[in-house]
Amino acid sequence: MNLRVPGPTPLPPYALEAMGRQMINHRGPEFEALYGQIVSWLKQFFETAQDLFVLTASGTGGMEAALVNTLSPGDRVLAVNLGVFGRRFGTIAERYGIDVTWMNVTMGQAADPAELAEMLASQGPFSAVLITHNETSTGVTNPMEALCQVVRASGDPAPLLLVDSISGLGAIRLPQDVLGIDVVMAGSQKAWMAPPGLAFISFGERAWQAYETASCPRFYFDLGNARRYAVRNQTPATPNVPALYALHASLERMAEEGVQAVHDRHKKIGDHCRHLAVEAGLNLYAAEGVRSNTVTALTLPDGLDSKWMLSELRTRYGIVCASGRDPSVDMIRIGHMGYVSEEDLDEVFAAMRTLLAEMM
Ligand SMILES: Cc1ncc(COP(=O)(O)O)c(C=O)c1O
Repeated sequence: MNLRVPGPTPLPPYALEAMGRQMINHRGPEFEALYGQIVSWLKQFFETAQDLFVLTASGTGGMEAALVNTLSPGDRVLAVNLGVFGRRFGTIAERYGIDVTWMNVTMGQAADPAELAEMLASQGPFSAVLITHNETSTGVTNPMEALCQVVRASGDPAPLLLVDSISGLGAIRLPQDVLGIDVVMAGSQKAWMAPPGLAFISFGERAWQAYETASCPRFYFDLGNARRYAVRNQTPATPNVPALYALHASLERMAEEGVQAVHDRHKKIGDHCRHLAVEAGLNLYAAEGVRSNTVTALTLPDGLDSKWMLSELRTRYGIVCASGRDPSVDMIRIGHMGYVSEEDLDEVFAAMRTLLAEMM
């Protein structure tokens, strides 16, 4: 099967094999070596010297952890909403009684730094700004350098910057310390060639200051507790050991390849996907200049039904792509992060071209 949804992504043979290993004591030296090495490789990709934790949770758990460890009910935050996942971040905050102001961006577009600056100035002050690095539901990558600069310059102290890079990091550069981001999240099932079930969260100095007074309820996701265990390269609760085995095997290869080379590889495959899509007569949903190197969102020429296309791809060719997440847009999304080759995408678009010809 050619699994081309934007997560979970296919696993390379060495990651699959690693998951078959016997369990180990998560309070023993083998685990401590495994966990310590994973954290140190992840920090290379996050480009951070801050604390970084691997949580046994999906990415959403990482988002919840970011919020409950830095904020209190009644705090005002600005949520930049580009689509389904931007909305989720702000919605979790609302559930905890945090006062969310929404910056709603037209779907398919990135956030405009000037508009963000204007909202911060006219509606602030805010305790935090929530931003999605790579919006998986629309295939858009935000201009993080400019957006982070605007937030940093917007007050003294500036609001905390909490960034969901669940479908970005490991493929698209987000240098946390250079950009002054306080908390960044990523998810194992995306570019990391690992199974679902692990969230990565880095937590900077200003985030720790906020932690001291943050009063949202927390137990499983209490990062102060995670920090106490991390001193010994352990986790507070029983971790997802098989997923960590696979992650270790994949990160070892990614570290060998080099951070820059991993990003270059994703840029190349993103370009390849966009080229094939346009050549096949499909429309790229994301605006020019902000198209993601991990996921491409497509619409079909007028009047053609994407549900039929998705179903035929699966049953006739064994190719599994994703539908849109917003029912108002008839969309197909193709994941191209992690363990994916240009040939995998060639196969997808060859099948799509045949199906398009049949539909016309
Ligand atoms: C940008 C983004 N944020 C958050 C999530 C939620 O992650 P999970 O499904 O692992 O909880 C996803 C998953 O697709 C995502 O792409």
